Amino acid sequence: MNVKPDFSKHANQAQTAPAFLSVWDMHSYYGESYIVQGISFNVHEGEILALLGRNGAGKTTTLRSIARMDNPQVNHGEIWLDHQPLHKMTSYEAATVGLGLVPEDRRIIPGLTVEENLQLAQIAPPIGWSIERLYDLFPRLGERRNQDGVTLSGGEQQMLSIARALARDLKVLLLDEPYEGLAPVIVDEIEKTLRVIKEQGMTTIIVEQNAVRALQLADRAIILDTGSIVFDGSAAEVLENATLRAEYLAI
Ligand SMILES: Nc1ncnc2c1ncn2[C@@H]1O[C@H](COP(=O)(O)OP(=O)(O)OP(=O)(O)O)[C@@H](O)[C@H]1O
Ligand SMILES: [Mg+2]
Repeated sequence: MNVKPDFSKHANQAQTAPAFLSVWDMHSYYGESYIVQGISFNVHEGEILALLGRNGAGKTTTLRSIARMDNPQVNHGEIWLDHQPLHKMTSYEAATVGLGLVPEDRRIIPGLTVEENLQLAQIAPPIGWSIERLYDLFPRLGERRNQDGVTLSGGEQQMLSIARALARDLKVLLLDEPYEGLAPVIVDEIEKTLRVIKEQGMTTIIVEQNAVRALQLADRAIILDTGSIVFDGSAAEVLENATLRAEYLAI
């Protein structure tokens, strides 16, 4: 049994309930390039956190660091998910303890149908939502279950990418720009689904260029600027703060 460290002395950790996901003093590099410069934050169970900031601020790098991808290299800090030390794990091990990253490029497997893409996610335990339940969540996928995944529209591919993550037994869902390149009506549909997923108790981090949309969905927001956290507070606070929005989000 792993014991979670006491992060209570850290300024960003002044929360009363224990966090579900804790990132503490994380530093990430691509080779010599120092990108994530010592960030700390908590995400509580069932919460949606929007991770925002300008292009190149380090949002994708933060998600990849949490998911323990090979690149970037995290050379300092701790990442805990439900008492599990992610910082000691490979990306594969992190996935087996409930970490699900939906990358920006969606990574649909060519030559496989919608259903085969989902089945592949369930090839080994721990298994999450059943395929039928995923089709209830995304009826468009059910209608296209026998269609080659790469022939889906952009919005449908994004749905498949999210569904594939949920097909595993997830504790936290990390979404990198899920609305990118999608028409507003499809964004509405995906946003509605993310609310349903939240109602089922999922903990989510959403990275989005469409900051207003992300803030409308999120409970809390973190703003990154050149690899450091410049704001950690409620999503409503960002929506109300024109200075903050203009300075760091250009909205
Ligand atoms: N594989 C890599 N090798 C070297 N530098 C990288 C690599 N990937 C990203 N970077 C650099 O790291 C910095 C942060 O990139 P990151 O992709 O995390 O930003 P982001 O906030 O997700 O930006 P965007 O909003 O454009 O997606 C950028 O300066 C980028 O050029
Ligand atoms: Mg990015």
